[in-house]
Amino acid sequence: MTYEQAKKVLRENGQEQLLAFWSELDEAGRARLLQGVEKLDFSVLENFNHPQNLSGTGSRLAPVKGLTADEIDLRAEEFKKIGDEALKNGEIAGLLLAGGQGTRLGAEGPKGAYNMGVTRDLSIFACQMNNILNDLQSSGARPLLLVMTSEKNDGETRKFWAANDYFGYPAERVKFFVQNAAPCVDENGKILLEEKDAPATSPNGNGGWFASLKKSGLYEILKREGARWLNVYAVDNVLQRPFDPVFIGATIASGKACGAKCVRKCDPHEKVGVLCEKDGKISVIEYYELTEEMANARAADGTLEYSYGVILNYLFSLKRLEETEKEKIPVHIVKKKIPYISGAGEKREPEKENGYKFETLAVDLISFMGSALPYEVRREKEFAPVKNATGADSVETARALLEKNGVKL
Ligand code: UTP
Repeated sequence: MTYEQAKKVLRENGQEQLLAFWSELDEAGRARLLQGVEKLDFSVLENFNHPQNLSGTGSRLAPVKGLTADEIDLRAEEFKKIGDEALKNGEIAGLLLAGGQGTRLGAEGPKGAYNMGVTRDLSIFACQMNNILNDLQSSGARPLLLVMTSEKNDGETRKFWAANDYFGYPAERVKFFVQNAAPCVDENGKILLEEKDAPATSPNGNGGWFASLKKSGLYEILKREGARWLNVYAVDNVLQRPFDPVFIGATIASGKACGAKCVRKCDPHEKVGVLCEKDGKISVIEYYELTEEMANARAADGTLEYSYGVILNYLFSLKRLEETEKEKIPVHIVKKKIPYISGAGEKREPEKENGYKFETLAVDLISFMGSALPYEVRREKEFAPVKNATGADSVETARALLEKNGVKL
């Protein structure tokens, strides 16, 4: 892109402030800025000017019935057989969402590289890979494992996996791709500069994985290999069990387009998204979208009606995903602290939120799937999120759960 082209596209989008320091930049800086402008996705700005109503207000909500952990235990063998068969036939691939910034954890480097060990090194990636190797023992399969990183952590993530010998997985079965980025804007919708020669951008949220995967070219490989299902999971749960043959088998046997691992909510106000029916479609809604009455509603057996809390471990039918490609996943506008270059050319690290990031969420995909199986897992066995440095959902709580599951720290 030339300077003239950049100027034109920026003028058309009302973002000429990005060229404010052009005259101060050397050749390399100018090239970097032009490249940054060329990569900007201006389409998300539309959401700033015309925000969508993304709350559940005004929607008709109803609880859904899922497979309980007890029901699963009774049919585990039957499901496992189906799951192992699908794994052996190469119908399953995995996708690890590792593009987040882990701001709440506040540690340097990729979140998955965080050391959960006390007497030895044990990263979050390693915890998850140990579970995977365990679950693949009976089928002997080595499904393609795609790792989605962000522009900010891609290099470090690749290095970490290589340095750790891919955690015992065949290196050629692990492929990395970078998720798309979205610009960050100030309170007036103007894109901020992160450096004089770089527009401020951030990963576009964990819902953008399908578009990013397609763009990376890896989707073609997946299809060529004959994959029919994609097990998408988050990095920040040290007890995460992707490629779990029982879950895979149960989802396939259900005839639904998607399976969602869930934990039963332990208290009506637990802050997890829950699966429910929203205007007749299976969807995930946030805890704050439930009225007090709904949050407290109980079924005849005493369990909460709205109780299937999602843990970001889904099995998606690729066929259905392709059909939904034309659907527009909602873009959420999130207020955040964004470091920026001031008009006077000084780098500022704001103490308060000063602008917005644009994010799509994986949970929003569920409503496009048409059908989904809520699949209950036992929380103490499969849900140990690492979100914060201390307190709830922290390194401490996750370490305690790892130990409870017999993992040596
Ligand atoms: P979170 O929503 O908890 O975000 O991610 P985060 O960035 O890790 O942490 P905070 O909010 O900054 O503290 C849930 C999962 O989605 C992935 C994360 O890596 C994690 O596995 N994710 C999140 C992405 O892959 N890309 C994103 O843009 C955001």
